[in-house]
Amino acid sequence: MEVIRIEGCHPITGEVTVEGAKNSALKLMAATILAPGVSTLTNVPNIADVHVMGKVLKELGAKIDVADEHTLVIDTSSVERWETPYHLVAQMRASTAVLGPLIGRFGKATVAMPGGCNIGARKIDMHLLGLQALGVQFDMSHGDICATTPNGLKGTSVTLDFASVGATENLMMAAVRAEGVTTIANAAREPEIVDLANMLNAMGAKVHGAGTPVIEIVGVDELYPVEHRVVGDRIEAGTFIAMAAITGGPVTVKGFDPVHLGLVLKKYELMGIDIERGNNQCLISRTGDIHPVDIQTLPFPGFPTDMQAQTMCLLALAKGSCIVTENVFENRFMFASEISRMGADIVIEGHHAIVHGVERFSGAQVKAPDLRGGAALAMAGLVADGVTTISDIHHIDRGYERFVEKLLSLGAVVERLDVPSID
Ligand code: UD1
Repeated sequence: MEVIRIEGCHPITGEVTVEGAKNSALKLMAATILAPGVSTLTNVPNIADVHVMGKVLKELGAKIDVADEHTLVIDTSSVERWETPYHLVAQMRASTAVLGPLIGRFGKATVAMPGGCNIGARKIDMHLLGLQALGVQFDMSHGDICATTPNGLKGTSVTLDFASVGATENLMMAAVRAEGVTTIANAAREPEIVDLANMLNAMGAKVHGAGTPVIEIVGVDELYPVEHRVVGDRIEAGTFIAMAAITGGPVTVKGFDPVHLGLVLKKYELMGIDIERGNNQCLISRTGDIHPVDIQTLPFPGFPTDMQAQTMCLLALAKGSCIVTENVFENRFMFASEISRMGADIVIEGHHAIVHGVERFSGAQVKAPDLRGGAALAMAGLVADGVTTISDIHHIDRGYERFVEKLLSLGAVVERLDVPSID
């Protein structure tokens, strides 16, 4: 099995450039289905999740040419199937992002239900309710959601129970081809939603208000292929910012818009981190102690749940105690139990984590619990006494391109190793 081995207490300094946003690239790839022809996406991260979405599109009949490491040329003129099988949805829940575009283009789609979810319950119920309001009929059979539109797609008003990113995106991608006007109230406002709206508008769609809580979409008859650059990954940037903050840096993180990390940067400043904002970059350093600061995750522009583990890692070394509240996902504190193996003192009470700062972490063998938790364990390893070995690193590969190489370029003592499995 592959592991990441980190020798702690070496400084990291220099510059690191982030890739295009995973969460944007996946949806933009799905959106190419809407415009038969050849679309080009640039600044696409070369990560496992993008490879899975590539397989999903190929399964539907698209042809994908990797023009260079970060440029995908996607020909959707030959898409002639509309079924996304379970083995792909099981690998990546975001595969369900093809539902909206397939319905938009063909008026039908069959997508396997993501594991552990069922219609009417949590997870993708908001996607389905919103699409139903547009005229989509769903039938569940053999674990698949089969969508049909016997009377076409009709614009309507949809109010989401929660500002769900995925539901907002699926609705936008179906509504661009509906007859008439659709409004999505309580829409998600993430920068990735704005990126998707920008690409759809370049394709000929009429999407207004993306980035605000109310999105209005005037349906059109046809969409055209485009070339589009994926927005910089604010979460990859935030991860390196957190690493610079915990080690002291200085590190310049490039390739993203600091406005997209507004509340994260504000909270980090309150923690005693020095931040110099620049044009598409930030310079991060710290000389004093880390101050405890309470955090609660919320949809954008709130504190991103995808920065919760990295921030908890930082707070676990603060001079004092604070509370981290997770409001977006259940069970997103797996990182907390793993980091306790390295000496952190964190008590979980429901969706609150009470973090008591400790003096230092101690290197240990740990397992990446998920994508961001895995990156946060590597972050702890950078400042831990001795050696930290992280297994289950496929989680990290899902969303971080050249993770070890980027850390090496900053001076970290880190390597990827193949070791005998301990199971
Ligand atoms: C996206 C991001 C993920 C990020 C999250 C919140 C991608 C590929 N992933 O996930 O990295 O952490 O936004 O910023 O873009 N929910 C329901 N019913 C639904 C939809 C969602 O109950 O129909 C719940 C979810 O279980 C979760 C919460 O709403 O508890 C937020 O989910 P959502 O905003 O939809 O996140 P994703 O789009 O899945």
